[in-house]
Amino acid sequence: MAIRICPSILNADHSQLHNEIHRVATADLLHLDVMDNIFVPNKTFTLEECAEIIADSDIPVDSHLMIADPDTSAIKYAQAGSASVTFHFEASQNPRATILQLKASGVRVGVAIKPKTTFERVADLLEHIDMLLIMTVEPGFGGQSFMADQLPKISEARRALLELGGSVPWLQVDGGISLETIALASQAGADTFVAGSAIYKAKSPAEMIAALRVAATI
Ligand code: DX5
Ligand code: ZN
Repeated sequence: MAIRICPSILNADHSQLHNEIHRVATADLLHLDVMDNIFVPNKTFTLEECAEIIADSDIPVDSHLMIADPDTSAIKYAQAGSASVTFHFEASQNPRATILQLKASGVRVGVAIKPKTTFERVADLLEHIDMLLIMTVEPGFGGQSFMADQLPKISEARRALLELGGSVPWLQVDGGISLETIALASQAGADTFVAGSAIYKAKSPAEMIAALRVAATI
């Protein structure tokens, strides 16, 4: 199974974002956390800042929207140049319409679920999306502990994806991913891993990216 590592710049040094973005150029996707202080109690980048980060990044940008109204706003992050746009199921009134709108713009489309949202709620969306994001922390902040109680949900999603066959969406995890927890998530069936503090707190982000890849493959 292909493994993808996605460094989150949430906890990078925002005073020198340009350098921080380029320190992780060996990763597969740059994970961009967008928070509006409504859906989650934290605020990050404006749409303009996102567009600058996207333009600056050498690797494709994976935008994770933790915003209250993705049905109206998600498309703006596609238009800003994201390679992939993931919105939260809990925040959407009409996930199917938002998926279709994003697809039509040419981006990969992801749907995210918070720890308390069951896999069952999104099972019928699987065949329409490119990625399912299972949060392994409550969204809002970097540096939290991995919630091992989400592992059965990851396994459940992997089983459902295998049954679907054909073009299988990626299964991403986000929150508390480290050299230890990435192995657990991988064994449960995840193939796409967001890591914020593990990568940016490391002396060498590039070495940590390589080590995470190995740990996810074992
Ligand atoms: C949390 C964000 C994550 C966060 C992960 O709500 O969605 O992407 O940056 O950070 P770590 O890897 O430190 O848990
Ligand atoms: Zn994220």
